[in-house]
Amino acid sequence: MSTILNDDKIPNNVNLSSDRRLQRALEAWQPGFLSWWQEMGPAGFQAKDVYLRTAISVEANGWAHFDYVKMPDYRWGIFLEPKQEGRVHGFGDFEGQPVWDEVPGEFRNMLRRLVVTQGDTEPASVEQQRMLGQTAPSLYDLRNLFQVNVEEGRHLWAMVYLLHTYFGRDGREEADELLARRSGDRDRPRILGAFNEPNNHWLSFFMFTMFTDRDGKYQLAALAESGFDPLARTCRFMLTEEAHHMFVGETGVQRIVKRACELMKQPGGDVRAQGGIDLPTIQKYLNLWYTLSLDLFGGEVSSNAADAFAAGLKGRYKEDKYTEHKLVDSFFAMDVLEGGKVVHKDVAMRNALNEVLRTEYIKDCQRGVDRWNKTIKDEGIDFVLTLPSNKFHRQIGMWSGSYFTPAGELLDAATWNARRSEWLPSEADEAYVKSLMMPVTEPGKMAGWIAPPAKGINGLPGEFVYVRLD
Ligand SMILES: [Fe+2]
Ligand SMILES: [Fe+2]
Repeated sequence: MSTILNDDKIPNNVNLSSDRRLQRALEAWQPGFLSWWQEMGPAGFQAKDVYLRTAISVEANGWAHFDYVKMPDYRWGIFLEPKQEGRVHGFGDFEGQPVWDEVPGEFRNMLRRLVVTQGDTEPASVEQQRMLGQTAPSLYDLRNLFQVNVEEGRHLWAMVYLLHTYFGRDGREEADELLARRSGDRDRPRILGAFNEPNNHWLSFFMFTMFTDRDGKYQLAALAESGFDPLARTCRFMLTEEAHHMFVGETGVQRIVKRACELMKQPGGDVRAQGGIDLPTIQKYLNLWYTLSLDLFGGEVSSNAADAFAAGLKGRYKEDKYTEHKLVDSFFAMDVLEGGKVVHKDVAMRNALNEVLRTEYIKDCQRGVDRWNKTIKDEGIDFVLTLPSNKFHRQIGMWSGSYFTPAGELLDAATWNARRSEWLPSEADEAYVKSLMMPVTEPGKMAGWIAPPAKGINGLPGEFVYVRLD
């Protein structure tokens, strides 16, 4: 298989032109995608030149090409990592048997649900972020937003390719539905909660790319282990692009934190009075987006997770680093709610796999928060950002009916509600952060609430014209 971009209408490394039926089906879906992009993609910038990275191959070195592109002309393509000959199931009931190149009938519905659920998040995030270009704090940030947006569009293509290729007519119908649902729409919402939440300003955008895109990393990594080989190969390449999204989030928050610290050291030290975002407000948005993202892993004890693992469809994060891959007689020690009390106990491992994946995710988030705290310390400020308890503010799973503080103490509903605005953004916080959101479009200039990045994109300087606005 070629790993290099070809000149087809739809760039791909899957030899699309050899399958006329599939090619025609995808070419029929393409205009719907483009009109969705025009309607729900970044508002107001479709005709501008943006300095973007485009995937052109799956080679580790040189997979991307940087140049100015108008977003509707972005070459959204289909890229799968090359097939590894002789690959076998790495876990579950079929461990050691050859992986599947076709969908096994008995697991068809489960597999389609996994692909559709992943696919739905991709256009959803573009919809959530559609107005943010209007208030970007710099051209550098504006470009990064659009980079994330076009790549989420490509991730939608990746999932639609699987639906069209392997799921026949209902796959095509699901692909159409992916363009019909709308984030936050009352009648046709996106499938998962966090993808229907408003993303009204850049603090939320950076928290989203830090925490919610990172959920994406863990879901993709679990699917990259799949015994359904086309899914595994698709997800592996998506992970390459995903890394940049989390970089945008982590460094974006880090720059806001740095600016807050600088302003604290000014005479008076009142961050808000000087037009910055204070650390306690940053903590509240961290609490919000982190907990919305924890929900995306699903219930703590889940028979769906057990079934997907047993079938070899969805593994653990880096399955290779484990020695045992069947998980029939093993257990996971975790907190559960029993009779209104939190107890620590062993749960059958296969049923605990959502929690196992969430636990890996939490460790990864903590590493990012540690880096933010290092910035605060380096600035000489005494303040520590923390991840709240995984029981706090949950809307899915075992903890969702109960009320916990960020420290993980159980409270009654009335007390929790009375204290809510200590922990989560209040309307006043939201209004304040929004009031700061004024676009800065002069090359190299930054809004006053965020520090400049340590370096530019692709080795270019900070004052490079990342988006041409005229
Ligand atoms: Fe994505
Ligand atoms: Fe992403």
